[in-house]
Amino acid sequence: MSKQFDVLVIGGGPGGYVAAIRASQLGFSAACCESNPYADPKGEPRLGGTCLNVGCIPSKALLHTSHLFEEAGHAFAGQGIKIGTPEIDVPAMKARKDGVVNQLTSGIKGLLKKNKVTFLAGHGSFVAKEGDFWKLKVGEEEVLAKQVIVATGSKARHLPNLPVDNKIVMDNEGALNQESVPQKLAIIGAGVIGLEMGSVWRRVGAEVTILEAMPDFLAVADQDVAKEALKLFTKQGLNIQMGVKIGEIKADDKSVTIAYESKDGQAETLTADRLIVSIGRNPNTDGLNAEAVGLQLDARGFVEVNGHCQTNLPGVWAIGDVVRGPMLAHKASEEGVMVAELMAGQAGHCNFDTIPFVIYTAPEIAWVGKTEQQLKADGVAYKVGKMPFMANGRALGMGEPNGFVKMLACAQTDRILGVHIIGVNASELISEAVVAMEFGAASEDLARICHAHPTLSEAVHEAALACDKRALHF
Ligand code: FAD
Ligand code: NAI
Repeated sequence: MSKQFDVLVIGGGPGGYVAAIRASQLGFSAACCESNPYADPKGEPRLGGTCLNVGCIPSKALLHTSHLFEEAGHAFAGQGIKIGTPEIDVPAMKARKDGVVNQLTSGIKGLLKKNKVTFLAGHGSFVAKEGDFWKLKVGEEEVLAKQVIVATGSKARHLPNLPVDNKIVMDNEGALNQESVPQKLAIIGAGVIGLEMGSVWRRVGAEVTILEAMPDFLAVADQDVAKEALKLFTKQGLNIQMGVKIGEIKADDKSVTIAYESKDGQAETLTADRLIVSIGRNPNTDGLNAEAVGLQLDARGFVEVNGHCQTNLPGVWAIGDVVRGPMLAHKASEEGVMVAELMAGQAGHCNFDTIPFVIYTAPEIAWVGKTEQQLKADGVAYKVGKMPFMANGRALGMGEPNGFVKMLACAQTDRILGVHIIGVNASELISEAVVAMEFGAASEDLARICHAHPTLSEAVHEAALACDKRALHF
């Protein structure tokens, strides 16, 4: 007899496990299946998806350790702390990162249990529609579910004809698991992974060169922020080359040589000990047997969905990296909650206009809403309020004077349209802007709110005041 559920979620990442928990909280019998190769001590696939196993969490753990190392080597002396020259122990740094990952991934199994979600270890794929149910295979088992949520996530995109061995030529998995510091590290793609991983390995001693195809650095970010970031990252020692055309790449078991054409048309070669390929990610839809049931995919393999994450099939939904929109853990989780609530007849909601973006470099970069270049392109009249951290007492006290907060508000209504931050703890500061925008606040609303002193959040307050040309401290 097949197992039967109201809801089967395929994929146990931040989209899938959150959707399954919320569905169960709303009274559905829910199961979540997962098939990744990151086995736990019981030999079962770990939950948490890309995010917990080989994404957000391990990268932030390494960013933290490498930041402390850099601070110890370069910032402590300036604050009167003498410790001599610090040394990095890469296996210990990696072991700490693995410990954090283990703790969190096993915690998710506990969360499923607590919320009465059945965990099924195995690869999920569609078989057919049978009456009110979808018939699926999970591993070798047959499972029936009234509703299915596809949350199968994404995998690293690779370059054609360049096999990834995760020793010399790496994607995100190898980049996070290096056992030693490469002397020379090449990175293809100056996107989020390139910048975060480039920062980690530069801080601990690698000479890092990043080759990027696009002419403009961080084209998706506000260009004021992108310009400041490029200046600061270059000063830190990241060699970022924009507008390059990658040619032949030769790798053996010791090194890799990349032939490329520079922005000004010069033929160049770069030889490095290791290479990280971070050129975006592809959706995981190839193993779903989508064609057997007619699940519609777009030309790039993403599951086609509407604003409510409904696919073309009744009772089949899709969320997270496997559908359109930014590939972010919190976006996947938001969609998971929305779908579970819609299934329960509630007013599920995901505001795609207020999803925050963060890049965890030093300084951090964070934004929400429209960039200045988008507002110009849309012909929207706007005003700008800007506050540099150089004029913020807390930032100076922390020895973190770089960056600024930039607020964009509608010239007519004063409604906040976008907030862009580059600076220390930007990842935390952006939440205030997200809340303000979610509630449709005007810059005047933030300007009238009392902010504790001395805090970095006063820079957000001052940026709001500056929208009305009445900044008090700049
Ligand atoms: P995933 O997390 O990819 O989970 C999908 C799961 O489904 C996987 O575990 C997979 O094994 C499983 N699966 C696939 N097919 C099947 C099948 N047929 N049957 C059963 N199981 C299946 N985002 C942020 O918001 N902040 C960050 O700081 C951040 N840092 C990142 C750093 C790196 C290095 C990378 C690579 C990504 C990072 N991301 C970050 C992106 C984030 O990891 C993803 O957006 C997020 O994990 C997407 O969640 P998801 O549930 O849609 O998919
Ligand atoms: P990305 O889309 O951020 O950056 C890829 C970069 O590679 C782009 O700048 C692109 O122009 C460039 N590129 C593509 N093909 C190229 C080629 N042939 N030669 C040279 N450059 C080329 O993708 P990335 O960095 O791989 O990350 C994948 C996803 O993971 C991101 O889109 C992001 O959503 C997520 N992520 C999020 C993080 C965060 O929220 N802090 C951290 C890391 C990843």
